[in-house]
Amino acid sequence: MPVAVVVGAQWGDEGKAKVIDLLAERHSMVVRYQGGHNAGHTVVVDGERYALQLVPSGVLYGHVAPVIGNGVVVDLPTLFAEVDALESRGVSCARLRVSSLAHLILPWHQRIDALEEASRGDAKIGTTLKGIGPAYADKAMRTGIRAGTVRDAAAFAAEVRVRAAAADAALRLRGDEGFDVDAAVREQVALGARLAPLVADTVNLLHDAIEAGESILLEGAQATFLDLDHGTYPFVTSSNPTAGGACTGTGIGPRQIGRVIGVAKAYATRVGAGPFPTEVTGEVGDRIVEVGREFGTVTGRRRRPGWLDLVMLRHAVRVNSLTEIALTKLDVLDGTSPVRVCTGYRLDGAPLRGFPDDAALLARVEPVYRDLGGWAGPLRGCRTDADLPDGARELIHLVESETGVPVTMVGTGPDRTDCVVRG
Ligand code: GDP
Ligand code: IMO
Ligand code: MG
Repeated sequence: MPVAVVVGAQWGDEGKAKVIDLLAERHSMVVRYQGGHNAGHTVVVDGERYALQLVPSGVLYGHVAPVIGNGVVVDLPTLFAEVDALESRGVSCARLRVSSLAHLILPWHQRIDALEEASRGDAKIGTTLKGIGPAYADKAMRTGIRAGTVRDAAAFAAEVRVRAAAADAALRLRGDEGFDVDAAVREQVALGARLAPLVADTVNLLHDAIEAGESILLEGAQATFLDLDHGTYPFVTSSNPTAGGACTGTGIGPRQIGRVIGVAKAYATRVGAGPFPTEVTGEVGDRIVEVGREFGTVTGRRRRPGWLDLVMLRHAVRVNSLTEIALTKLDVLDGTSPVRVCTGYRLDGAPLRGFPDDAALLARVEPVYRDLGGWAGPLRGCRTDADLPDGARELIHLVESETGVPVTMVGTGPDRTDCVVRG
């Protein structure tokens, strides 16, 4: 089947972009299906680092058409800044297309995001403050503005004016100083004019490509446990990163999808608030953060470190129909002993094998660990399964036996070539 989905199997930043970049070599289109510029996707090629927020991670290949699907919320200033930065580094964005059905993030969405966070007091979600939640809320309220609207400049200007005036009034009611509606309209009209030539009916574009025998890669942002439905609500994002979201977010039906690749680090991280059973503090955690460079691409925040949690991975296999796992950043654990892996939970002293349906319960579980001996390393430079030390293979086999799906890729460093492709 011509379509593959890459989905985060933890709380984000698993190295999805690197996996997409690797797979993109054999695909003609890479399509983002949800989220917005809350994503930070890093690809490293020959030591050159590209940090992408909205442009799909396949953009570095000349043969790939990068597509922003209908499920994405698009912040135009960020999109064009990213396009300009890529073009200035010699990466062409000429093939980029944006779905006419994708919703726009408007400047007031960021103001509302900040107000909502401030109103939560000590119970903050720790959002990226990019306006993601408010933009999706407008979409659900049917008060959003879609990218396709820019094809009629006058209609777009009128719609922005109506929405801006309403948002300004609503902000003032909440004690905010409001904003200059005329200036907001002028800014959006200018951005809309630049967007217009990129707008496309991407649903039919993708289906035409499938009918022509092309293969397509669907790029998830965020991750399974940040999913609005399946994540640790309310400490989640406002879209559906899980594999079902790849269907609604692109208009491609489930029967076209042959591979669903779940990306997981050999440990875990979380940025923002919310329960994290295997979280590690102290020296061991600090070492993971330092060696793994676990600081957010988008907000620069330190990511919270923890051990690999196979209860979560088993659940990710279920809700995404994962066909395989890409296990990344094994090299970060070089020299770590023991390497701890959570294989189950206990709740009030009793075993709990499944992932609980309540974030408050998750906050109370105690992880049950299997301690592995680890390996000395370095893993960087390993290219085949046989190159990997026994300790690394032991970890991989444990992941496979506990989740029931094969580990088909292993990350051994940040660069495109730092990878073991298995089977
Ligand atoms: P994404 O959001 O899932 O695409 O992941 P990010 O790009 O936010 O974070 C992953 C980070 O780890 C990036 O800095 C990558 O360059 C880096 N990375 C990816 N795979 C590996 C790996 O196997 N080993 C190491 N050391 N770094 C990796
Ligand atoms: P990638 O695609 C990690 C987190 C935020 C916060 C929560 C809600 O790079 O893996 P939002 O701004 O989406 O309303 O914030 O989700 N979050 C991410 N964490 N990686 C991401 O993206 C994230 N995108 C959002 O930190 O906890
Ligand atoms: Mg990221």
